[in-house]
Amino acid sequence: MAAQKKLIIGNWKMNLNVHDASVYLHKLDVEIQGHRDVEVVVAPTALALQPLSLQINRHKMKLAAQNFYWRDFGAFTGEVAATQLRGLVKYALVGHSERRHVFGETVKDTREKVHAALRNQFTPVLCIGETQSERTSGETKDILHDQLVGGLANVTSEEIDNIVIAYEPVWAIGTGNNASPHDVADAVLAIRSQIRHLYGKEKAASVRVLYGGSVTADSASDYLHVNGVDGLLIGGASLKLHEFGSIIKKAHNITQ
Ligand code: PGA
Repeated sequence: MAAQKKLIIGNWKMNLNVHDASVYLHKLDVEIQGHRDVEVVVAPTALALQPLSLQINRHKMKLAAQNFYWRDFGAFTGEVAATQLRGLVKYALVGHSERRHVFGETVKDTREKVHAALRNQFTPVLCIGETQSERTSGETKDILHDQLVGGLANVTSEEIDNIVIAYEPVWAIGTGNNASPHDVADAVLAIRSQIRHLYGKEKAASVRVLYGGSVTADSASDYLHVNGVDGLLIGGASLKLHEFGSIIKKAHNITQ
């Protein structure tokens, strides 16, 4: 099998207005000339998705939604439906730790969102990870198991080809306290063995798994070299043009 492109997703969270997002995207396009062997994705504010979808060079970069609601339409004030994102985005984050821990998103919500994304032809990036206290009490593998099995319930073995899993330990997100490559290797192994249990050996090897949590240009290569890591989900560092560009360059160098 040909080596997969590394997938690098920049999650801008609730930063950059539409204008700033557009300027950033333009500069990023210039910054990463010639790195087409890396799949580069940005997740701006939902407001910017429509204008950026007109601006983006889809051969070089893709858009992701940070969040959406799983029902198709109706009286859900303030929400954006997966049906409204259809055609605009290639990916969407599901179950990001801030959704789970700040906004109370449940495992059932993540499952509904996974299915809504698939129905609307974009790829869910299912984010899973343990909190510091779960880690301290040795529950990491149980948490990964529950979030994975719960989030993927009723996903078929064809559909799993179109799902990305991101291992994002909650204690590592936005803290500068990043996981060691050894921790990441362990977690990725646990994720792949769960996928193997659910979908068999071939899918366990082919499903894309990312790491996210305080990744910087300095640490990116270490994670990209971990066996079974297919890319990175970058928060804070994706807001810094040169740093994000340098992470993409590292993925490019590894792919070559
Ligand atoms: P961080 O965020 O890189 O700022 O830790 C990662 C994420 O939230 O996906």
